[in-house]
Amino acid sequence: MQNNNVHVIDHPLVQHKLSLMRNKEASTNSFRRLLNELAMLMTYEVTRDVATQEVDVETPLEKTRTRVIDGKKLVFVSILRAGTGILDGMLSVVPGARVGHIGLYRDPKTLMAVEYYFKMPHNMEERDVIVVDPMLATGNSAIAAVERLKELNPKSIKFVCLLTCPEGVAAMQKAHPDVPIYTAAIDRELNEHGYILPGLGDAGDRMFGTK
Ligand code: URA
Repeated sequence: MQNNNVHVIDHPLVQHKLSLMRNKEASTNSFRRLLNELAMLMTYEVTRDVATQEVDVETPLEKTRTRVIDGKKLVFVSILRAGTGILDGMLSVVPGARVGHIGLYRDPKTLMAVEYYFKMPHNMEERDVIVVDPMLATGNSAIAAVERLKELNPKSIKFVCLLTCPEGVAAMQKAHPDVPIYTAAIDRELNEHGYILPGLGDAGDRMFGTK
């Protein structure tokens, strides 16, 4: 499904795994495994339009020309810390991709995202960027991350999350209407504590077992 630059990946396998992750009884181990599998499946959709180039290949029978992607032109940017959980799955299907990290925390007074870490590959202007964070909730971190990345002038930027909500989509699209959002679901709403409902709880805590 696609709407206003939002791609909801409603493949049955994606929806099935997401449902298992929502269950509060899912162990840290199975949450992490499911996230990894989901990330692989979502990468399939997110990379649907990446450029390919022709190469010569010799099969056991004859020479042929066939197509490959140039994985290193892709940069997966993980928003710390929860983005890491998606990153592993994506790298297992595009192992040549480069990786960037951006660390942001929420200032308790202003509630704005403050950057504490930023490390990207060189020559970002030659690369297509895919920013990952499991939950697009208020949108503050995603908006700040994309703003910062735009300073480096990459060829393109996409944003990938597992779950979002109407408030997160609206905020992101207002700030960055040019950045497509890929998600497995748009849930009902954001609560007053910044959690997505019905959601799956705190993605970072659930994947790392920190609560
Ligand atoms: N971050 C999370 O981990 N969960 C939410 O529901 C919202 C933001």
